[in-house]
Amino acid sequence: MLISIDEAVACLRRGDLVALPTETVYGLAGLALKEDSVKKIYRLKGRPSTNPLIVHVYDQFDGENLAQFNDLAHKACKFFWPGPLTIVLPKKDCVPYSITGGGNTVALRSPSQPLFRKVLQKVDSALAAPSANPTNRTSPTQAKHVQELFGKKCPAILDGGECRHGVESTVLDLSEGEPRILRYGPITPEKIENVLERKIILPKNQEIESYEPKKSPGSFHLHYAPKTPLFIFRNWDEIRETTPSTDDLLILPEKLDLPNDLSGHFPTPLYLSQNGDLEEIARNLYNIMIEADKQGAKRILTLLPAQMNQLYLAVYDRLKRASKLPQ
Ligand code: TXA
Ligand code: MG
Repeated sequence: MLISIDEAVACLRRGDLVALPTETVYGLAGLALKEDSVKKIYRLKGRPSTNPLIVHVYDQFDGENLAQFNDLAHKACKFFWPGPLTIVLPKKDCVPYSITGGGNTVALRSPSQPLFRKVLQKVDSALAAPSANPTNRTSPTQAKHVQELFGKKCPAILDGGECRHGVESTVLDLSEGEPRILRYGPITPEKIENVLERKIILPKNQEIESYEPKKSPGSFHLHYAPKTPLFIFRNWDEIRETTPSTDDLLILPEKLDLPNDLSGHFPTPLYLSQNGDLEEIARNLYNIMIEADKQGAKRILTLLPAQMNQLYLAVYDRLKRASKLPQ
């Protein structure tokens, strides 16, 4: 059911959940400081209670009621908020452990999506909002995805159209001495380093420090993203080696012409972008995976984007995570 801003506010105030648009993906929102609402979020997502939720606040001022800010946090918020940056800081006593996975830190984000901001302002209380997908499913970037993902159990949805970025926020841990990226997202490590004037620690086991999927053996299976097995490839030769057939569906990073010997196998490829622009690829990634899944192919074959800037880290990371059952 689609609802208005005022209805969303009323739902949240009485402790119910609402799916809300953010500039990254749709979130499954509930009152952050109300244990009952938090429980409902975990239950509906089927999320383990040890995996903490992001708390969304209107601005830094509201954030400071919930966490101990330090100089780096002040700098980061001043520059990147509202926007797709989540920061992890030591929590204050008022933040329940149920939302932090039992830990002493809390993840905070001030979203820029105007409808979400209106709701935050009117509710006048922090909102917990993980991505609005059941655990291990693709994050929704449109209202209709939320409906499809939850079916009969779907909460009320505030429809804000398609999400601008299409991948989840960058998560930056500022709770210890050294700033550390915990999840790649729309705000790149380079941008954060420039603003904080500090070296940033990147996630461990990075196979793509040079933005190069070095260890890719040609393909790997993504367990969750679409239900159809999905494989990624670096070039046409790798695709040829998998002996493609018309039972396969091809996802291309841009509107490329297919080599003659392959075009017969893929009459209707799907495209992540017009010209390979990474922002467009990120925005369309989950949507195209969901669309691809509906086509009933035996396999989905995906060619990696040729262009590589730091946003590629977020795009490639989502593919890689998918093979490891992400949240
Ligand atoms: O863009 C986004 O961040 C979206 C929109 C809705 O805001 N939200 C989102 O939430 O992606 P979720 O719950 O799907 O992902 C939050 C990530 C998880 O990987 C979680 O483990 C991590 O942030 N996280 C949350 N609190 C944390 C904490 N205190 N310390 C470390 N990681 C934390
Ligand atoms: Mg998620």
